[in-house]
Amino acid sequence: MAARGGRFVVFEGGEGAGKSTQIELAERRARQAGLEVVTCREPGGTPFGEAMRSALLHTGAISARAELLAFNAARAELVEVVIAPALERGALVLCDRFTASTVAYQQYGRGLDARLVEAAIALATEGVTPDLQVLLDVDPATGLERAGADRDRFEAEARAFHERVRVGFLAQAAARPERWLVLDGALAAERVADEVWAGVGRVLSGA
Ligand code: TYD
Repeated sequence: MAARGGRFVVFEGGEGAGKSTQIELAERRARQAGLEVVTCREPGGTPFGEAMRSALLHTGAISARAELLAFNAARAELVEVVIAPALERGALVLCDRFTASTVAYQQYGRGLDARLVEAAIALATEGVTPDLQVLLDVDPATGLERAGADRDRFEAEARAFHERVRVGFLAQAAARPERWLVLDGALAAERVADEVWAGVGRVLSGA
């Protein structure tokens, strides 16, 4: 991978944590600051990725290993076509979910072996890693309520699954605190946005 000048900030969290609102608010502030901003989401962000997204969210049961590979196939395309080129141009990339979601959902949620998950992620990312991961932490009961009644394959999972996912995110943040900003997703959006922007500012200034 060529040297990169951009910055890569990822928004993570369970269902209904408010990630899309926070990405919109951060994007607006970054544009006002005159930065080149590229936003994307996982799974998705490319024609292939969007096709994988509808397969992953709306088809019936998928085996856990097929699910792991499908998320990472979509990710490989997104990294190669969107994220790596944007970082090489020096852009600020804001992404709705990335590799920590795979660890939280496929490893902690589904129970897949950590080494399998790590290998799939390594293949998909070729070493592209976030400069900062913002965890919008929310109690699954609150998050699922926000997500509404029209549930996709993950939202329809049992409460215990979503509790494991939450533990998975918190464990990753606790293991690498310098790479994470953990915020309470239940707080008012503007207040969370101020903290997100302060974190992005630290990343941009290299602090
Ligand atoms: P999405 O609509 O992005 O969920 P949300 O609106 O809550 O962010 O749907 C993506 C779903 O896919 C979400 O339930 C999490 C799951 N997911 C994984 O299980 N593994 C992954 O690697 C990624 C990126 C997402």
